[in-house]
Amino acid sequence: MTGRHGPLMLRGGSGGSGKPLSRGSRIVVAVVVGVALGCACAFLYPDGLLFRSSASALQWSRQVGSVACESSDRVTNLKPQLILLERENTELKKQINELSMKLQLSGQGKNEAMYKPGPPGTVKALRMNPTVLPDESVNPRLAKILEEVAVKKELIVALANSNVREMLEVWFTNIKRVGVPNYLVVALDDNIESFCKSNDVPVYRRDPDEGVDSIAKTGGNHAVSGLKFRILREFLQLGYSILLSDIDIIFLRNPFDHLYRDSDVESMSDGHNNMTAYGFNDVFDEPSMGWARYAHTMRIWVYNSGFFYIRPTIPAIELLDRVAGRLSREPKSWDQAVFNEELFFPSHPGYEGLHASRRTMDIYLFMNSKVLFKTVRKDAQLRKLKPVIVHSNYHPDKLDRMKAVIEFYVNGKQNALEHFPDGSE
Ligand SMILES: *[C@@H]1O[C@H](CO)[C@@H](O)[C@H](O)[C@H]1NC(C)=O
Repeated sequence: MTGRHGPLMLRGGSGGSGKPLSRGSRIVVAVVVGVALGCACAFLYPDGLLFRSSASALQWSRQVGSVACESSDRVTNLKPQLILLERENTELKKQINELSMKLQLSGQGKNEAMYKPGPPGTVKALRMNPTVLPDESVNPRLAKILEEVAVKKELIVALANSNVREMLEVWFTNIKRVGVPNYLVVALDDNIESFCKSNDVPVYRRDPDEGVDSIAKTGGNHAVSGLKFRILREFLQLGYSILLSDIDIIFLRNPFDHLYRDSDVESMSDGHNNMTAYGFNDVFDEPSMGWARYAHTMRIWVYNSGFFYIRPTIPAIELLDRVAGRLSREPKSWDQAVFNEELFFPSHPGYEGLHASRRTMDIYLFMNSKVLFKTVRKDAQLRKLKPVIVHSNYHPDKLDRMKAVIEFYVNGKQNALEHFPDGSE
């Protein structure tokens, strides 16, 4: 269109009438020059100017100068405009990057063309989702506490009410022994709050709020677990990574020296060996199917929802929301089962799965009590390894086993673990 109209108007504007160019004619000339430059530009850069580097933009000014046969004056006049354009270009590129990230985050990105894969072996998908923008207004009081307690924007967090007071003391005594300063107890009642304060333990007392508070006071293990996911959300919104810890855990080394921090959720496993903890192909046999009797299945033992590291990302917050939502809608469900279902089940008809990145912690460093009592204590080599934590999740006589773990790993009492059965009796 423009290419066809340009020359016609040029003739009309510079016709041999002898009259000086009217204002209208000058506008026409200006338009024509602009259009001509545009054509030259379109010819030279069919992809557009937007994504070119500043070097090629300067080249552009040189080339247009010769191709469009305009005076070099005019080209010189264009240069400031070009620089301006360059700046806008950079700004625009930045905005496009941000936008594409936002699109990705909102799960609506149809921007297949944004990324160019490198050669085989060099391509790596995103595990490190970007962290959320910290929002102090969510809970200014907690924000202040975290500013003081956290180290490098991360900390250990545990929830406790008076039911677990004795175990809590063992818990924080060992954290102190290891020399970890960045930990916080979320006190669910006054008793625990004052107990922490009198022991110099960083504590945060939730503001009493209806519903939640009654669970907090009287709730058993599982009820408190549901509350945990709602409380944790605020920590993430404030921009902190949380190492969530149950109370029946002994810290033997600083856990922050043993995290990968490359996933939305990095969790200890309920598995008892490499296969069960890290996943395996479990072949299901149905002989009546003859030739096709074997069906391969993917299996992995659940993540332990009592000890995981969670980064302040959108998928991580979505996970907490999904788990908390389901626990309130399905009060009989077990939080650990729900936590795992949300993490692992893929999208399918009628269901949209969570897209969070996950990492299973080393089972000998972040050890559950089944691994310890079934395997490690009987294995001469494994006995020599000092775990980062031991979680008494598999045994009801928690306090006794916790104390034995301290005797064995801290006080070097070699037979401290011996008198316990593998499981409960
Ligand atoms: C279990 O996995 C670890 C780490 O991948 C490996 O070093 C170890 O040899 C494995 N153990 C067994 C028994 O396969």
